[in-house]
Amino acid sequence: MSEKKEIKITAAKGRPMLTWVGKRPLRSVTAFPAQHVETFAATDVGAIHESPASKDWPAAYPQGGLLFHGDNKEVLGHLLANGFRGKVKLIYIDPPFDSGADYVRKVQLRGGAATAKIGGESYALGEQIQYTDIWANDNYLQFMYERLMLLKELLARDGALYLHCDWHKNHLLRMLVEEVFGPENFRNEIVWTYPGREMHIENKFNSKHDCLLFVAKSDETKINMKDIAIVYDKGERLKGLRRKVEIDEDGREWVWETRGQSAGQEPYKRYVEDIIKDGRALNDVWDDVQFLRGNDPERAGYPTQKPVSLIERIILASSNPNDLVLDCFIGSGTTAAVAQKLGRRWIGCDINKGAIQTTAKRLQGIMTEQAGAIHESPLQLPGMETDETAAPTPAQLSFGVWRVNDYDLKIQRNEAIKLACEYVGIERLASDSFFDGKLGKKLVKIVPFEHPLSPLDLEELKRELEARPELENCIVFVCLGIELAARTWIEDWNRLRKGAETVNKIEVIELRTDAKYGNFIKHDPAAGKVTIARSADKIIIQIEDFISPTILKRLDMDMPLFKAKISDWRSQIDCVMIDTAYDGEVFNVVLSDVPEKKKDLIEGSYTLAAPDGKTTVAVKIIDMLGEEVLISKEV
Ligand SMILES: C[S@@+](CC[C@H](N)C(=O)[O-])C[C@H]1O[C@@H](n2cnc3c(N)ncnc32)[C@H](O)[C@@H]1O
Repeated sequence: MSEKKEIKITAAKGRPMLTWVGKRPLRSVTAFPAQHVETFAATDVGAIHESPASKDWPAAYPQGGLLFHGDNKEVLGHLLANGFRGKVKLIYIDPPFDSGADYVRKVQLRGGAATAKIGGESYALGEQIQYTDIWANDNYLQFMYERLMLLKELLARDGALYLHCDWHKNHLLRMLVEEVFGPENFRNEIVWTYPGREMHIENKFNSKHDCLLFVAKSDETKINMKDIAIVYDKGERLKGLRRKVEIDEDGREWVWETRGQSAGQEPYKRYVEDIIKDGRALNDVWDDVQFLRGNDPERAGYPTQKPVSLIERIILASSNPNDLVLDCFIGSGTTAAVAQKLGRRWIGCDINKGAIQTTAKRLQGIMTEQAGAIHESPLQLPGMETDETAAPTPAQLSFGVWRVNDYDLKIQRNEAIKLACEYVGIERLASDSFFDGKLGKKLVKIVPFEHPLSPLDLEELKRELEARPELENCIVFVCLGIELAARTWIEDWNRLRKGAETVNKIEVIELRTDAKYGNFIKHDPAAGKVTIARSADKIIIQIEDFISPTILKRLDMDMPLFKAKISDWRSQIDCVMIDTAYDGEVFNVVLSDVPEKKKDLIEGSYTLAAPDGKTTVAVKIIDMLGEEVLISKEV
């Protein structure tokens, strides 16, 4: 990918304008290069059945789905710098709601109760933080403002954006969207009201809807009323979708209506305009899309996953087959999954590795199924009776995972902060924009673990305390490493706060050397024992053992009285991927072993066709906490 460069961003359009503390225009972004991490291709016959390659696809990227692991500000900047400006037809985003909740994904061992029992009880790993949804209001607005500015640049002249939100922020987001896109381009506030979700809340009405803010890039943006009306009228979601539309002598469109045929009725002509007139999918209140319940088979284990039929309606309304659909808060991958099923191209992005893994898993499944279906039912030739229930031709049967900057560090940081807090006994503060928690009466500031405590962190604290003279608490810094200059700074500071005068005295807990908490940080990487051998034209792989000290530690933490015992090592493994011709850089998935249900375990032994000549076989094992182990051997 191209070198790092500055990308200019056009100014926001609008008035009125919302303002907040620290509002800054986004005049340019730095576009960093991306690294190709992994490729998945469903089939080698796929190519002939895919839609023809897109002519204006940027040369920097292979055709196929693109899944980016990284902060979307950087990823969007990267896309702008690499030929995607003005190429995206539809954007759907479902950003964190700023709801003050920590979203968690429940991580469980595989194999259900049978493999992971302590004292007769099955247990789950601690909850793994998926992303932190705690923001000071102003940061949140700046965050969303910058993303919207970048998204507008990527959108085609006739493109559309749907911003999913709820009552917490919809008023503010509506203003942001109008400022960035211009009020004249605001089309709808769609209300998605979920049937059957009743709760009783004291002194407040039960909130029973989300909002989708629908904005156009310009007045060239159209919506496919006919498609949604026909699909939803027939209830043929995600299957054939389109009934064949015929046109009669006076130019009116009609379809064969077969409903009721089983009751002996003959098929009859029904005019499309009548279907549109009846269609309730066409109003701005959507009350026919179910909320995903906990046990829904659609669930991919992601807390904020959205229903397929909601995204399907949006994609049908605002894009056509082969168009490019983008979601830069992809989560469990719903947007990419539906786009893929509807024959669209897609780009997804998430900062969370669990999200990337979940999305990759989901898309592998869909593409494999699509390739299989193509295999079974050969292409329809012109003149043949068309199969009206056949799914649309996939626009692509492969995708790549890319990374812009290295986010593993940040993710481990969230994780590490959580563990550190539990370990030290810090109570997290969700509401404070500066302090991360409390330890007794003391206020705690956690220094990002990528850098040691430095005088800069201390100056920042000083400014904060000057701005909040009412705070008299002592301050505790929790850090990994401390600069010498910072120690001197603190000594000077505390010298003025001797004896009874302890207002804002500073203490430090350095996690490696602290007398009390010092042995906290020891990350022993997960490890696997794998044999890889060649026998004639086959490659035989056997995973013999796997151990993740982090998982064991987590189990110990949750159940301190029992030493965790795992009777089957496979329960720690989420999935296994194999590349039989690994080039040391890009992992091409040739086989992926992803058990569908939580109670199923990975196979552990595999036989694959061997490429000619010497080759490097790589086995990637991803554990239930998302940690990866790569084992490779030349055979
Ligand atoms: C509400 S969830 C999206 C759920 C998704 N619509 C689905 O159906 O699964 C929001 C996602 O945004 C991601 N996210 C938050 N901040 C981000 C950032 N700066 N860059 C990229 N992704 C981010 C989170 O990791 C999370 O997966």
